[in-house]
Amino acid sequence: MSAPRHTASAPAANGRDYDVEQVRADFPALHQRVHDKPLIYLDSAASAQKPEAVIEAVSHYYRHDHANVHRGVHELSERATNAYEGAREKARRFLNARAACEIVFVRGTTEAINLVAQSYGRTRLAAGEEILLTEMEHHSNIVPWQLLAGQTGARLAVAPMNDDGEIEMAEYARLVARGPKIVAVTHVSNSLGTINPVDEMISLARAAGAIVLIDGAQAVPHLAVDVQALDCDFYAFSGHKLYGPTGIGVLYGKQALLEAMPPYQGGGEMIKRVTFEDTEYNDLPHKFEAGTPNIAGAVGLGVAIDYLSDLGLERVARHENDVLEYATGRLAELSGIRQIGTARERASIVSFSIDGVHPHDAGTVLDHEGIAVRAGHHCAMPVMQHFGVPATVRASLGIYNTREEIDALIAGIGKVQELFGV
Ligand SMILES: Cc1ncc(COP(=O)(O)O)c(C=O)c1O
Repeated sequence: MSAPRHTASAPAANGRDYDVEQVRADFPALHQRVHDKPLIYLDSAASAQKPEAVIEAVSHYYRHDHANVHRGVHELSERATNAYEGAREKARRFLNARAACEIVFVRGTTEAINLVAQSYGRTRLAAGEEILLTEMEHHSNIVPWQLLAGQTGARLAVAPMNDDGEIEMAEYARLVARGPKIVAVTHVSNSLGTINPVDEMISLARAAGAIVLIDGAQAVPHLAVDVQALDCDFYAFSGHKLYGPTGIGVLYGKQALLEAMPPYQGGGEMIKRVTFEDTEYNDLPHKFEAGTPNIAGAVGLGVAIDYLSDLGLERVARHENDVLEYATGRLAELSGIRQIGTARERASIVSFSIDGVHPHDAGTVLDHEGIAVRAGHHCAMPVMQHFGVPATVRASLGIYNTREEIDALIAGIGKVQELFGV
């Protein structure tokens, strides 16, 4: 099998510089005009663009290597299986999981959390027991637990945040001391950009006997994650926010926990032996991967992981923080702008409202300037309620964004204010 090209732009010689133009050259979608303006893509928190290496790997897989996995004795099935399991090993290394069997491929963060809620939660929770969340969770880290609470009689408890968008740690510690069975926390907030002190949150929760799930959807594109050092029980992320394909994601779970959990879905792949009387389930991780998996998605995700790892997450973080600080500073110079989410530790997101302008109108005007931002509640309605706004404008950064693009955003906001006479 000839392997497709899958390395990122070569790192700068001194290992410190970051050649953003070279990175941009790897992303075909960035080089287009929208409404006759050069595209400025500031919506990577919703979904990131894909480098040529990922597009090429998925295409190469379908052109040369596709067959179903794990079952065939023929050459193509063996190639597909090797590619799929190779991607699992890349995900293992990326998270520093102890074993590849702790990496379960799922559709994305949403499915990962639903899997844990239904497989772990449904069999472990009793009426009156608590599931502790935070006020800044994405709906996909709220609704699965609400469903579980409805099924078991368990209760949700919510750790509040302050007006900077930081968890009130004293209140979190007090709620943890009440002995919740499950604690589910986002690593990085998708609506505010807050980086939560998950090390401390995990150790408090584990000391109180809870199992801990970390929603890493917004963390893995920006921060190096080590699940063994964190000592969380579960960690979830989506491929499409990590410059990989849609429809693929990862649930990391500690082996002993995954072993003890019942399957989430039944079907092919997840069994060893089936009769009409009973079924013997397959070993990990296949027990949780019923049916034909998203093989091409996993292949693309593996290459996205290679791409980001080759760039180096530390260098990525330095670059993104520079653009983030620049954006925060430029927005602060404008009148009539309220920044929402001013935590000390933030990653790659600026969220704001413009006095006198609905965020959707602002988003539409910016779109006509070729600037893609998100305007809405960002699937975090409780965050909007906290700040007393229906929605915000959110500009979210990726590895390819530049200070010049922030200048264009600021000019675009000026146009919005001029148009609405505010
Ligand atoms: C923090 C967070 N959690 C979960 C999700 C859900 O991810 P997905 O839709 O890929 O399952 C998102 C997506 O925006 C997110 O930002």
